[in-house]
Amino acid sequence: MDKHKKYLPYGKHHVDDLDVEEVVSVLRSDFLTTGSKTIEFESDFAKYTDSKYAISCSSGTAALHLALLSLDLPKNSNIIVPSISFVATANVVELVGGRIIFADVDEKTGVLSESSILEAIKNSNSEVSAILPVHLNGCSVDMEMLQHVSGQFNLKIIEDACHALGGNYYKGETIVGTVGSNLYSDLTTFSLHPVKAIAMGEGGIITTNSDAIQKKLLKFRNHGMTRNTDDFLNKKLAFDKDGEPNPWYYEMQELGFNYRASDIHCALGCSQLKKINKFIAKRIELVKLYKKYLEPFSSLITPVRNDFPISAPHLFPVLIDFASIGKTRAELMKFLDGKGIGTQVHYIPLFLHPYYQDKYNHNHYRGAKKYYERCLSLPLYYDMEEEDVIRVKTALQEIIG
Ligand SMILES: Cc1ncc(COP(=O)(O)O)c(C=O)c1O
Repeated sequence: MDKHKKYLPYGKHHVDDLDVEEVVSVLRSDFLTTGSKTIEFESDFAKYTDSKYAISCSSGTAALHLALLSLDLPKNSNIIVPSISFVATANVVELVGGRIIFADVDEKTGVLSESSILEAIKNSNSEVSAILPVHLNGCSVDMEMLQHVSGQFNLKIIEDACHALGGNYYKGETIVGTVGSNLYSDLTTFSLHPVKAIAMGEGGIITTNSDAIQKKLLKFRNHGMTRNTDDFLNKKLAFDKDGEPNPWYYEMQELGFNYRASDIHCALGCSQLKKINKFIAKRIELVKLYKKYLEPFSSLITPVRNDFPISAPHLFPVLIDFASIGKTRAELMKFLDGKGIGTQVHYIPLFLHPYYQDKYNHNHYRGAKKYYERCLSLPLYYDMEEEDVIRVKTALQEIIG
C-alpha cells in the first residue's frame, strides 16, 4: 500500500474535541456512574427517537438481553431470529433459556420477509412466542407486514435496531416514523459500538413506551434490585413499626445483572447524539457517490437494498458476482486490503457457527446462504470523502479487469 494513503476501515467512529471535553468533564466530576449524564443521555435519546422511555446499558448485547428478560417469557419459548445477523441476536435467546427458530432471509436484502417468517413458524412445529427482527445495514424490516403476522400468531416483537439509529420505518417507498419510536413493537434495542451511527465506546440503549417494561428493564439492569418503596415485597424488612421505609433498605426481586452504562460513556453518547443528523447526512451522501461510481459495474457489483430508500445507512454492503469476476471473496478482500481498503462480511449465517451448526436443518436457509455467498461491506464512515469512494471504485475496477 502507498505509505501516504490512509487506511480505509469498513467502519469507524468520529470523535471531536467537544466529545473529549464532555468526557473529561465527567472524569473531573463527583459521579463517574449513575449520575446526571446517564439521566441526560436517556432523556435526549427518548426525545430523539420519539419514545416514552430510553434505558441505557453497557452494550447492544446487554440491551437485547434486558429486552428479552423484561418480557418474562416462559423457559423454552420459541423465538424467531433471522439467520443473517450478528451472533448476539441469537445468543441472548439462549441466555434466557429460549429456543431459537432461525428464519431464512431475503437473498437480495438479508432481512426477514413475510414468507421467511411464515416458513419459520411452520418449521418450528410448536407455538412461537416472539420475534427479533433485525433492521440489517440500517434498512427497516417491513414492520407493517410483521405487525400483521405477529397479530395472527400472537408474537411479541423486540426490534434489533443496532444498525438503524437515525433511520425511519418504511412501507414500500413511504417513510412512516422513527426507528425506536416503537410504533410497531414492544421494545427497540440499539448498539453504540464505535462502528455504529454514534459511539459510546461500548454502549447500548432500549426504547419502549410501556411503563411496566421500563420498570423491569431498570430492575434487571441493576442486579434485579429496586429501591422504590412502593414496590417493596418484604414489608417487614422494608418498613419500621410506624410504616416508614428503612433508609438503608433495597430489595432484590429478580436475578439481574450489572448492565449499567457509566456516566463517562453516557457523556460521549450525549455529545455524539447532538451530531447524529450530520453523521447520517454524510453517510447518505457517501452512499449516493458509491452508487454513482459503481453504476458501470452494476452487472457484477450491486449495492444491497438498492430498491428501497435507506434512511440511515449503517454499512455499505454490496452483492458481488464472484464467479463472473473470476476471483474468490478472500482474494478480493486481500487485494483491497493491499490497497489500504478494509472490507468485512456482514454476516456469516448464524446456523453455520460451530455452536449452532448441528442443531439446525440447513436446507431451510437458501436465501441466507445466497446472501452470504455474495455480500461484502465496503468502507463507510463520516470522515470519508469523495476521493476515498473513488479510491475504492478504482481498486475494484482494477481487480474486475
Ligand atoms: C445486529 C446487531 N445486534 C446486536 C449487536 C450487539 O451490539 P454490541 O456489540 O454493542 O453488544 C450488534 C453489534 O455489532 C449488531 O450488529
